[in-house]
Amino acid sequence: MSGRPGRPGRLVAFEGLDGAGKSTQLHLLWQWLEAQGCRVARRAWNSSPLVMDATIRGRNQRLLTPTIFSLIHSTDFADRYERETLPMLKGGWIVLCDRYVFTLMARDLVRDAHPEWIESLFSMGVVPDAVFYLRVSMLMLVERTLRSYGRLDYWESGMDLAVSRDWFDCFTHYQRRLGQEFGRLQAGFGFQSVNADGSLQALQTELRSKVAEVLGVGVCG
Ligand SMILES: Nc1ncnc2c1ncn2[C@@H]1O[C@H](COP(=O)(O)OP(=O)(O)OP(=O)(O)O)[C@@H](O)[C@H]1O
Ligand SMILES: [Mg+2]
Repeated sequence: MSGRPGRPGRLVAFEGLDGAGKSTQLHLLWQWLEAQGCRVARRAWNSSPLVMDATIRGRNQRLLTPTIFSLIHSTDFADRYERETLPMLKGGWIVLCDRYVFTLMARDLVRDAHPEWIESLFSMGVVPDAVFYLRVSMLMLVERTLRSYGRLDYWESGMDLAVSRDWFDCFTHYQRRLGQEFGRLQAGFGFQSVNADGSLQALQTELRSKVAEVLGVGVCG
């Protein structure tokens, strides 16, 4: 990944374990920046139409090996990046990404992908101007996940890794492993870690101040 000259926009990414509060915080930030007159876009975490069918079929029928998963993930990212994110950055927009490449990298690394291969696979993306890592305790993660969805998800519990038959054990094991990989990526890519265990408002206040620092005074006119 590289910084790229000649892109007047700003890329701010939000990463964290599944259910840490990324979408909630990003939505509030987006509203705040819009209210200030910024040209700001949200990039949600949806599969690119190019690979969506293959991903769903592969997942449902358990056809995907970790290598194929990585290749599909990187195709998915490249398609969304080149068609959506990069044009907005070139056009001077602030782009808030609800997850960027790092979630994909962490998921692949947990499945024993080679770190250098993974890094090269996602190297087409620019390094964000800032990455905020929402750090959350396991207790809070379980609480928020069950409150939101009422159940644990097969993939977010890493059930494909077959660590145990117990979904709760799998969820906590998998999320811990993801957290470790995020920790390594954080060191390499300079994420700013923020405490997401506290109140929505406290974290939002902290993020607004950090985002304002990244964007610079008067960036939105
Ligand atoms: N600081 C907070 N305090 C209490 N509840 C919160 C907090 N942040 C988020 N939540 C709640 O936790 C749940 C998960 O939040 P959210 O969907 O924003 O997480 P996420 O990181 O985007 O999850 P996913 O990884 O599944 O997309 C939601 O019900 C949300 O209202
Ligand atoms: Mg979300």
